[in-house]
Amino acid sequence: MTNRYPFPIPFGWFCVGYPEDFPAGRARPLYYWATHLVGWRDESGEVHVQDAFCPHLGAHLGHGGTVEGCEIRCPFHGWQFDADGNNTLIPYSERLNRKATLRTYPTVERNGLVFAWYHPHGEEPMWEVPIVPELEDPDWSFVGRTEYTIDACWQEMAENAVDAAHFRYVHNTATVPELDEYTTGFPEAVMRSSQKFPTPRGVVEGRIDSHAWGPGISVVNFSGIVDTVNLAVTTPIEADRCVVRFNFSVKTMGDDETTRRVGEAFAAEVDKQVREDMPIWEHKAHLVRPALADSDGPFMRFRRWAAQFYAEPVADERLVYPPPFWPDRVDEAPAKATAAARWTGEAGDGG
Ligand code: FES
Ligand SMILES: [Fe+2]
Repeated sequence: MTNRYPFPIPFGWFCVGYPEDFPAGRARPLYYWATHLVGWRDESGEVHVQDAFCPHLGAHLGHGGTVEGCEIRCPFHGWQFDADGNNTLIPYSERLNRKATLRTYPTVERNGLVFAWYHPHGEEPMWEVPIVPELEDPDWSFVGRTEYTIDACWQEMAENAVDAAHFRYVHNTATVPELDEYTTGFPEAVMRSSQKFPTPRGVVEGRIDSHAWGPGISVVNFSGIVDTVNLAVTTPIEADRCVVRFNFSVKTMGDDETTRRVGEAFAAEVDKQVREDMPIWEHKAHLVRPALADSDGPFMRFRRWAAQFYAEPVADERLVYPPPFWPDRVDEAPAKATAAARWTGEAGDGG
């Protein structure tokens, strides 16, 4: 089988769930970056993410494993491991097995999400998960989140940030955002754009600014009609499949009810746009050498930025990477696509 994309799974900080997915004293199975994992919260309140399979005889620690204080206990023969992955107890043996270790991923809870650092070669984190100031500001309220599982790699989706023209044709917006700035570094990429929104009271100047920290975390600020921030996090499930989570907060406008209604309307518009993007992303080919127009955005600059997050080789044997042919998707209405999405307006407690 040939690969769907030339790209391997990137490294970076990735969201592995919401804090309430990890109740204290419980272990649960996770599956990200093509790896079976266990996530658990110890009794001091810290979340840990480790490889799922016990080094003794391979039991999955997320299926029946139990939390004992600040250690995880295997359901098969009772071996215990600490938060660094060291074997701390073999209940029927005097001696520990020092070679029996669990690979452990650095984990941090921030901005109302749980993040873990993934690097295919186990390198330590190269940057920190940014704090989103709006989420700590009493003038801002959390309004809700959406979640999508999408058959595309993160890079195809993130490329949207520099693609102004698609707004008009995919999302039917009246105007196209104008790119004011695109700055790339490591791990950050900053895109600032202005947009004119036609409203019944005349044209309103608005902005869409996005700030990415590697492949997993983007903070998108919208202003103009309503000030909104979307903490957009993407986590690879496999090299060709991701889960995308959007977390919306809105600057308080008058009373709570108005703020909530405005925030939800805004989130619904973004949700509509993602559903419009999904069939394009899932069915498009990745072209190594796209045929660009003069006025297209800085696609190649984006791709050079993205390339920094691959520690493993990027394939170079082809110029065109098409998707598989999915017979069951032939008659699907594009707007429905294949991805499952959910809206959880009540979730969370203000981020
Ligand atoms: S497989 Fe985990 S203790 Fe034996
Ligand atoms: Fe889009």
